[in-house]
Amino acid sequence: MKFFIDTANLEQIKEAHELGILDGVTTNPSLMAKEGIKGKDAVYKHYKTICEIVKDGDISAEVISTTFNEIIEEGKSLAAIHPNIIVKVPMIKDGVKAIKWFTDNGIPTNCTLVFSAGQAILAAKAGAKYVSPFIGRIDDSNWDGVELIAQIAQIYSLQGFHTEILAASIRSSLHIVKCAEAGADVVTSPLEPILGLLKHPLTDLGLAKFLEDAKKFA
Ligand code: G3P
Repeated sequence: MKFFIDTANLEQIKEAHELGILDGVTTNPSLMAKEGIKGKDAVYKHYKTICEIVKDGDISAEVISTTFNEIIEEGKSLAAIHPNIIVKVPMIKDGVKAIKWFTDNGIPTNCTLVFSAGQAILAAKAGAKYVSPFIGRIDDSNWDGVELIAQIAQIYSLQGFHTEILAASIRSSLHIVKCAEAGADVVTSPLEPILGLLKHPLTDLGLAKFLEDAKKFA
């Protein structure tokens, strides 16, 4: 399973990259706005910086257009920023049409805002490289987000779809483990749940004891 970080914060991207386990980055307009980046030039420069930090990982950059022609033009500009850019397109009718166009023209896509298996089937049919089910937001609406990951994994495996399942809207370390168990190909998470995977009280207690005992023969 690949690990992506779900942020536009450069310090957090660097920290995850330095850990040696980072395979890519996902961003969205809300995450870019959170970093206070304003204007097309600044946004594009920020994407380029992220690509340069991660070096050989996929970096999702989301279109903010909603009509076919505009999505194509914006997606082409985003893809031109760096070879590692993945054009992130929302699950809407013109978005699906655009994903098919990008697929036919060699531009990889990430289909975002996916909340059902039916939407995931459409994304795969259009040839998206990644499909992004938002599992935290599904949990928030009293459905089971991890169950959707398992359902999509089963469908893709049965049908031979090659689209990678990118579990998004991760809220906890347990979400990451459950998504791995359910068959996600990628998990994109904020930094905190990734670092949370390190933690176990018995590790801390065990290390303290080993270090204490080590003093006896130092
Ligand atoms: O990048 C999309 C997704 O991960 C958003 O997460 O926490 O805003 O539901 P969240």
